[in-house]
Amino acid sequence: MSDGRNLEAHLFVCTNAREKGQSCQAKGSLELRENVKKLCQGKDRDWHGRVRVNTAGCLGRCEEGIAAVLYPQAQWFTGLQKDDTRALETALSACLDRRS
Ligand code: FES
Repeated sequence: MSDGRNLEAHLFVCTNAREKGQSCQAKGSLELRENVKKLCQGKDRDWHGRVRVNTAGCLGRCEEGIAAVLYPQAQWFTGLQKDDTRALETALSACLDRRS
């Protein structure tokens, strides 16, 4: 397991759930996060140790969710759907390209 020292891109996907009101988890954020994580671990990529995809608590954009934020550039994503892996993959790839 990587200790994070070579981390170049860190994506946080809100997986917060609420009993009432809108939440990212109710919109499928757990599925989205898992799919992006699998995509990052693909054998055809050299992203191991360079990219991390974590869960996050509420990012304060509940009504616009699914919400996510990518660091180090603090790039926000809102209105994601559970199948929107492509948008996040593109952003992660661009982030790594900039840092290469
Ligand atoms: S529940 Fe996801 S931003 Fe608040």
